[in-house]
Amino acid sequence: MSRSAHPAGPRHADVLPEGHYAAPPADLNQLDPRVWSRTVGRNADGVVAVGGIDVTTLAEQFGTPAYFLDEADFRARCRAWREAFQEQGEEREGEGADVFYAGKAFLSRAVVRWLNEEGLNLDVCSTGELATALAAGMPAERIALHGNNKSTAEIERAVGEGVGRIVLDSFQEIVRVAHIAQRLGKRQKVQIRVTVGVEAHTHEFIATAHEDQKFGIPLAGGQAAEAVRRALKLDGLELIGIHSHIGSQIFDTSGFEVAAHRVVGLLKEIRDEHGVELPEIDLGGGLGIAYTSEDDPREPQEIAKALRDIVHRECDAAGLAVPRLSVEPGRAIVGPTAFTLYEVGTVKELPGLRTYVSVDGGMSDNIRTALYDAEYSVALVSRASTAEPMLSRVVGKHCESGDIVVRDAFLPADLAPGDLIAVPATGAYCRSMASNYNHALRPPVVAVRDGQAREIVRRETEEDLLRLDVG
Ligand code: LLP
Repeated sequence: MSRSAHPAGPRHADVLPEGHYAAPPADLNQLDPRVWSRTVGRNADGVVAVGGIDVTTLAEQFGTPAYFLDEADFRARCRAWREAFQEQGEEREGEGADVFYAGKAFLSRAVVRWLNEEGLNLDVCSTGELATALAAGMPAERIALHGNNKSTAEIERAVGEGVGRIVLDSFQEIVRVAHIAQRLGKRQKVQIRVTVGVEAHTHEFIATAHEDQKFGIPLAGGQAAEAVRRALKLDGLELIGIHSHIGSQIFDTSGFEVAAHRVVGLLKEIRDEHGVELPEIDLGGGLGIAYTSEDDPREPQEIAKALRDIVHRECDAAGLAVPRLSVEPGRAIVGPTAFTLYEVGTVKELPGLRTYVSVDGGMSDNIRTALYDAEYSVALVSRASTAEPMLSRVVGKHCESGDIVVRDAFLPADLAPGDLIAVPATGAYCRSMASNYNHALRPPVVAVRDGQAREIVRRETEEDLLRLDVG
């Protein structure tokens, strides 16, 4: 985008950052459909609406900050993932594919019901997530339990409830799960999570397939093969497959292809050594979404095809029957479906630098900018504006200078206290990682669909805070 689109030039042009905000967009009122959820649009009067309801009405009804989740978009994304993987799985007889939504991205009882209705399975990584899933009627056999340090109580609960699979993450856990299953008179279906030694191109904290980290058992040095040997000997376990999750916010399918290649290599070793063909592989989640207009995520169809092709090729080469494939997208389903709505409180211009726009939330409702240097977009949504673009930093109200929501953004220069601004693509890992820092009250999640809005997670209250503080 050329800067000449703004003859006056943006304010603070001398400090323009690199990347997405190197130049202001031609029209600040425009909402990029890749970044905003499906039913979001700007009305003729300039006010943005979601699911047929204006943000001004939503703010009046539910207050700010608040997350607004586009239910139609959520369901459409569930269907797109399920259909993409099922169609791919139907190409050859007897094969199938399962989509497990990763609950850590965002989970509530309403979400569980939608998943159930849309035919998705669920991946949980704590008893809290398991309890939410069961409370909303997800059948236990469609739940997978993850975690690198599941407690005895968690394992007992999961085995007792009859979860469909437990993903084993260490040598100790192999024995622990086997003993608990035996004690409960069950044979628990399990997968073994391996690290395949792929360097995923993403932030260090969300990359999980290189060997030097806490998740999984390395393929390198024969450790994963040894884990399989041990699991196959234990009566309490039914080893159904191998699991790999290479990281998060990944755009390129090549890392998954290497992972699939190495996982199938292990299946072949297992067949050769034990005469057993494990029936399943899980390639985890991690597919990236568009947080800014520069991000270009793959469609589920394309991902499904790439993964299936590589698994077919590798299995054909190894003389193995193609196993049932599963994937665990979290962010790619819920991330794009929600935005956070904030009210502008102060606008502080630092001449020659930038303008600090303070909102009524911050790192307590979105820690991702501070934690991962995540980039976000932002727009004025309570009205349209023809003012010149102003280089802004959207910051929260917490006592921390790293309390940044959007590091570099262009907002209209006439932005004023009381305006509503919205940050899109906050459906994943924002409410689920929200905190009470500074005793902030965590915002509600409001589902909007066909002109109806309802809280699916209500706003916290002072009473909620004080109830935990037992004096
Ligand atoms: N499967 C497993 C085993 C996982 O560990 C994860 C994410 C997923 C699936 C889902 O990944 P997704 O499709 O959502 O990328 N808090 C970080 C992300 C941490 C992801 C942890 N595991 C963030 O905000 O970016």
